[in-house]
Amino acid sequence: MHVLIHSPNGYPVTLRSLVKNDSGILGEFFESLSPQTRSKFGPHPLDREYAKYVICKNIDVDNVSRFIIVTETQVVGYFIVDFNEYPNERSRYSSYGIELDFALDPVFAPCIHDNYQGQGLSKSGVGRIVALF
Ligand SMILES: CC(C)(COP(=O)(O)OP(=O)(O)OC[C@H]1O[C@@H](n2cnc3c(N)ncnc32)[C@H](O)[C@@H]1OP(=O)(O)O)[C@@H](O)C(=O)NCCC(=O)NCCS
Repeated sequence: MHVLIHSPNGYPVTLRSLVKNDSGILGEFFESLSPQTRSKFGPHPLDREYAKYVICKNIDVDNVSRFIIVTETQVVGYFIVDFNEYPNERSRYSSYGIELDFALDPVFAPCIHDNYQGQGLSKSGVGRIVALF
C-alpha cells in the first residue's frame, strides 16, 4: 500500500507499508516519542535496535502488518495490525462475553508522533488500513 493522505490542516503525507530499509527512520520515530506517548503505546521496545534487528528484519514472516505515515523527512505515524494469538487478550475479551478469533480479530495499535496528534492523521489512515483486510 502507498497512498497520499491529507490531514485536515492541509499538509500531504503518505501512508504506506513498512519496508525493510525503513529501520533508520522508524528508530528515530520511536526514540523521539515523549514519555506521555510511550506510557500509552508500548507494544514492544521503542528504540533503534528493535526497529532494525526485530521489526524490519522480520517483515513478512511474523504475521504482523505494519504501516507508517511519512512526511518528506520523517515518520509521523506507525500502525500495527497483529494477527498472532494472545491468550491474555483472549481471556480478557472472554470475560466481557466476546470470543476472539485471531484470524479475524487482530490486535490494532496506532501511534502518532506527539507533534502531529489531534490533527486527524489517525482518522485519515485507519479507514485505508481497515479496507485492506
Ligand atoms: C490515540 C492516537 C493514535 C490518535 O491519533 P490522532 O491522529 O491524534 O487522532 P485523530 O486526530 O485522527 O482523531 C481521531 C478521533 O479520535 C479521537 N481521539 C484522539 N486521541 C484520542 C485518545 N487518546 N483517546 C480517545 N479518543 C481519541 C479524536 O477526538 C477523534 O475523534 P472524532 O472523530 O470524534 O473527532 C494518538 O493520539 C496517539 O498516538 N496517542 C499516543 C499513543 C496511543 O495512545 N496509542 C493508542 C493505544 S495503542
